[in-house]
Order: sequence, then structure tokens, then C-alpha cells
Amino acid sequence: MTWTVSCLADAKRPPKISPAGVQVRAAAARSVHAVRAEGRSLTDLIAQNAAEFDQRDAALYQALCFGTLRLLPRLDALTALLLSRSLQPGDLILKDLIAVGLYQLTSMRIPEHAVVASTVAASRTLGKARATGLVNATLRRFQRERPALLACIADDPDARWLFPHWLLTRLQAAWPDSWQTIVDACNKQAPMALRVNRLRTSRREYAALLAAQGLSARPLPVAKPEPGRLDERGTMPTFMLAPELELEHALILDQALPTHALPGYMDGLVSVQDASAQWAAALLDARVGDQVLDACAAPGGKTAHLLERGAAGINVTAIDIDPERLKTLQQNLDRLGLSARVQVADASRANADWRGAPYQRILLDAPCSATGVIRRHPDIKWLRRDADIAVLVSTQRAMLDALWPLLATGGRLVYATCSLLPEENDVQVRGFLQRHADASERPIVAARGLARNPGWQLLPESGSGDGFYYAVLEKSS
Ligand SMILES: C[S@@+](CC[C@H](N)C(=O)[O-])C[C@H]1O[C@@H](n2cnc3c(N)ncnc32)[C@H](O)[C@@H]1O
Repeated sequence: MTWTVSCLADAKRPPKISPAGVQVRAAAARSVHAVRAEGRSLTDLIAQNAAEFDQRDAALYQALCFGTLRLLPRLDALTALLLSRSLQPGDLILKDLIAVGLYQLTSMRIPEHAVVASTVAASRTLGKARATGLVNATLRRFQRERPALLACIADDPDARWLFPHWLLTRLQAAWPDSWQTIVDACNKQAPMALRVNRLRTSRREYAALLAAQGLSARPLPVAKPEPGRLDERGTMPTFMLAPELELEHALILDQALPTHALPGYMDGLVSVQDASAQWAAALLDARVGDQVLDACAAPGGKTAHLLERGAAGINVTAIDIDPERLKTLQQNLDRLGLSARVQVADASRANADWRGAPYQRILLDAPCSATGVIRRHPDIKWLRRDADIAVLVSTQRAMLDALWPLLATGGRLVYATCSLLPEENDVQVRGFLQRHADASERPIVAARGLARNPGWQLLPESGSGDGFYYAVLEKSS
């Protein structure tokens, strides 16, 4: 095929590039391609590929994948301006390689000559040696014409919001006054949050351990409920459930680092868990002697938190439909010195003679669109489809209805999602309350997030927690 972009192959003396740097760019392009062309999850791809590199290059590979997927529509809009004809179907990976190159030029502090040389050389690694001229010309033209090209895409809504249309439309409908802030928060990097294992250490001691290694971390700011401001329903609920005023065991690291580099990680002193996810255990509030069912438990972040909070006094059954993810759950419990009954099971087919039933507490951390955690998983924007939402809503409904008979009278079920979409959250729970006369909602009043009717919606917050939804449901006789 003939490329119409002229090749401006530079200089007699090509800059020195490291072979590993070239491999990193090629791996990032392959991963971005696997997400958008094959629907692969970035988490799986990183687990598969990062081990090929040393720690520094693995960090660069991850940064390229995350950053490129986060900014994809902007990078694609620039690529469309730079390429004067479309690529052949067999060459589409070059679009991803160019996106990886443009991401580095627009958003990273890497010397530009190294970016261009390594990215161009990566086209050979990808088996596209004949395209080196195209990649080189494209990236160099961007360098030369940067202000004009950026001006060209300044009014392009895709390049501005960086979301697929269907999802942007849903967020605009759900949050007419604040969707811009929400979308911007989803497009930023999330902080790394920790949960200190209170059975083995305290937050103060663990912060000192971090400081001894030159790492700084901070608790979430203490927040006091202000009922007048917080209850959007205008009245104080009769039964106010104010979760712990702050998350007593959460720390936000000022600088992310690989999990295995956390001091005491293998000794079970700490786990990596988003701050918003840490409300589940407080809201469930399991008491000594309770039978507790964690119905969608893997990989076990919340199961472990329940057990740390309840010490030896509660009996937890952790189920999940995915046996592989349950293996990770078991490894997490082992590392933290915790134990639960772990079982592969389908929560949407639960029945009342199940082991442990009736339960005084049930946590349903349901499979969902994960729109509240897009900042941690930018591939979600390109993997999810509009039609998935209806399927998820119906799965969540089936799980709620199947689990409810397993709850003891006077017991509590906490429904949680990491979704920003009302269909999966307050609309879902409202429908549930209409179907079950013996169910009532205990409103949550807290200084963070928004009271919904019913439930509590946390939005992704800069420097703090992810988007999450919680509803506390109680059973009367
Ligand atoms: C949001 S994740 C749970 C995260 C987990 N609670 C934690 O804190 O680590 C949802 C889980 O639901 C599981 N799942 C999906 N369908 C299920 C079903 N029908 N029955 C049980 N688990 C299911 C998935 O395998 C996934 O592990």
C-alpha cells in the first residue's frame, strides 16, 4: 500500500534507543489494540505482560496503556487529522501505536526524540517494518504542527469528554447538573488507597512504617454529617444511619507504588482497597455471633474487611460464581490471617436451605457497569456496551430477589455497586422495595456523597474515593 504522508526520516545519526523501550511501546500498542479490537480486559493484559519487563519498564508499559486508553478519542482525533487515508484492516494496530506515541508527546515528560525513535522502532517489533516511515512522519508532523492540530480538535466533544456517546448520554441524563465534573473526575488518575489490618497494626503505626521508607500517606479528611445539607429529601430520616464519621483504617498514599513494595504487605499488615469500598463493612455492621453471607465476594476485598472488623466473632460465608477469582480471595484471606467458608455458587439461584442460612447480614456487592471506577479501569469505557446495562440490571434484580429469603427477620442486607447509573442503584432498590413488603430502607446520612431515594451515592472524588452506591435494607417480620 502507498502511504500519502511523506516520510521525513530524520538525520544521518539516529538517536540511541533502548531495546526494552521499544518492546514497551510495542507491548502497549498491542494491549490497547487487544482492548478495543478483541474486548480484552486491561487488568488481564497487564497481569500477562508486565512481568516481561523490569520494574521501571513495567511501570512505563502500564502508564502508556492507562494513559492511552484514558485519552483515546483525543488521540484518535489527532491521528485522523495526521493520516490522510485510512489504514488497511490488517494495519489497524498502527493506529494504536500512533496513539501510544501521541500520548507520550502530549502528556508525558519523556524527551521527544526518544519517544519518536522508540515508537517508530516498535512498528518493526509489531511486524510492520514497512510502516516505520508512516509512524515517523505522523509523529514528526504532530511535533511541527502541534498548536494548529490541537486547535483543530479543541471543539470536538469526543476529544473533550473522552467518553463513548452512549455512556456520556446516560451520565448526562442521570446527572444533568454535574455530569461534566463527574466525567472529568472519571478521566483523572485515581489515588492509591490502603486499608490497614486493624487485627495486626494501627493506622498510626502503619503510617510510621511508610514514613520510615520515605513514603507519605494521609487519612481521609474527617467529615461530620450536616443533616440539613446532606439529606436531599429535605427531612431528617426517622432512622438515621451515620456510618463511622471517617474511615478509621484508610490511608491515601501520596505516591502510588507496586503492591508488593508496601511494607508488611506479605505479612498481612495492609491491603490495597479504594476508600469508597471501605464503607461496606461499616454499613453492614456485623455483630458478634452473626452469620454473614458475602454473596459476590471475589477477589475478597470486602470479605477481608468484614473479618478484620468483626474479628473472630462473626461467621462469614463467601461465595462467587468465578472459581479463579475465589482462589485469589483465598490467597488474600491467607495473607491477612483470616478465615471464611469459601464456596463457588450462583447468587441468583440461592435457596433458603443453603449452608449458613438464615443470615443476620448479607452483603451483595453486585456485578455492575463499574462506571464509578473508570478512573482505575479506563478500558471499561471501550469494553462496555449500552446493551450491557439492561442485562446487568436484570442480574442484580435476580440476585436481590434470590438472596432476600436467606436473610433472617430483623437482619440487614447491604446492596452495593461501583456504578454511577441510577438504573443499577436507586431505581433498582426502589423496585426491590416495591416487590418486598417486608423490606425497608435505612437511610444513610453522611458528610460525603449524596443521599438518594433510596440509598447513598458516592461520586468519584479527586484525591479520594471512587464512585459507589450503597443501600441498607432491613427485614421486618
Ligand atoms: C464487584 S465484584 C465483587 C468484588 C468483591 N466484593 C470485593 O470487594 O473484592 C462482583 C463479583 O460478582 C461475581 N459474580 C457475578 N455473577 C455472579 C453470580 N451469579 N453469583 C455469584 N457471584 C457472581 C463476579 O465473579 C465478581 O467477582
